Amino acid sequence: MSIILGIESSCDETAAAVYDSDRKQLLSNVVFSQIKLHEIYGGVVPEIASRSHLEKIDLIVQAALDKANISLDNINYIAVTNKPGLVGSLLVGLCFAKSLAFAKNKKIIGINHLKAHIFSSFLKVDNSIEDVPFPHICLSASGGSTVIYYVKNFGEYEVIGQTIDDAAGEAFDKVAKIIGFGYPGGAKIEQAAKIVDFQDFYKYPRTKNFTKTLDFTFSGLKTAVMYDLVKKNAYDLQNGPIFENITSELQNQVSSSLLVCIADIFQAKIELALKLYPDAKAVTFVGGVACNNYICDRLNSIVNNLGKKFISPVCRFCADNAAMIAFLGAQKAEQNQFSDLDLDVFK
Ligand code: KG4
Repeated sequence: MSIILGIESSCDETAAAVYDSDRKQLLSNVVFSQIKLHEIYGGVVPEIASRSHLEKIDLIVQAALDKANISLDNINYIAVTNKPGLVGSLLVGLCFAKSLAFAKNKKIIGINHLKAHIFSSFLKVDNSIEDVPFPHICLSASGGSTVIYYVKNFGEYEVIGQTIDDAAGEAFDKVAKIIGFGYPGGAKIEQAAKIVDFQDFYKYPRTKNFTKTLDFTFSGLKTAVMYDLVKKNAYDLQNGPIFENITSELQNQVSSSLLVCIADIFQAKIELALKLYPDAKAVTFVGGVACNNYICDRLNSIVNNLGKKFISPVCRFCADNAAMIAFLGAQKAEQNQFSDLDLDVFK
């Protein structure tokens, strides 16, 4: 019987989960989000993040064990994120996991957080495991990365497209900040866009050739939104947003136009990926941006129309979490891929 404890602390969530790989069932998944601590600064402050992880890590791990109704002695392996992320934050999770492994004589498994996102598509809403077919295309979009993978198996995948500058989540967050929504902005942009029925008011540029390459670029989009707001007298290039001129109508219209633009870009990339990799049996959409229902619905319908399966996990598995760390840890344990206690962190 293999029970895996997963620990994740790469950025601004302290998370722990317990996964039973024999029953293929997630037994618990606990997350403490630090958003409240960072939002007044408009982004994640690394020192605050690592201090908060330190305060919470033992409580969150204990809560995950309690919820799973299991003691540490009954855990077989400990899977922990050791890259990439904020070094101070990663160190808290890794040192905690190593101490547990040493004290309780358990094997430890270092996990690349971005790889864990790829396989988060296997986590189903009822905490059981989805049988996602291989090979498949995975679009992973979060605050720090936007990548398309061709996934052949666990641990066997190729990067077939990625952003050459900003991530999609970053574009949402930066525009959200400019129009006064604060941090993080993706969910607020979606709420505002819904009010105006997801119309494309301003037709922001999709960049030349966006249907011909699997790579992304989002930094020009943010600049285009900014210059459009300058024209509307809502942004000053020296002093930033002119909040008294940013009405809620303008916020909704900018949000909606931005969301439709990013959804169009994602749709074009998925259509091209399926053309280039016709043997892909499914498309998965993961990472924090995959919490966006509008984008999910758009991708779902084009992928289904092409006769393939579309899978996007529920939001609690898209955003940073330890369930995906424990799940990938279980696959690695099956392949005997364990780490040593000199495992280090990498940003
Ligand atoms: O994967 P994730 O939880 O964590 C990190 O990247 O650290 O992704 C966070 C990103 C943020 O940029 C946030 O604005 C975005 O996911 N996000 C969304 C939505 N919910 C979160 N973007 C668009 N629509 C949403 N509903």
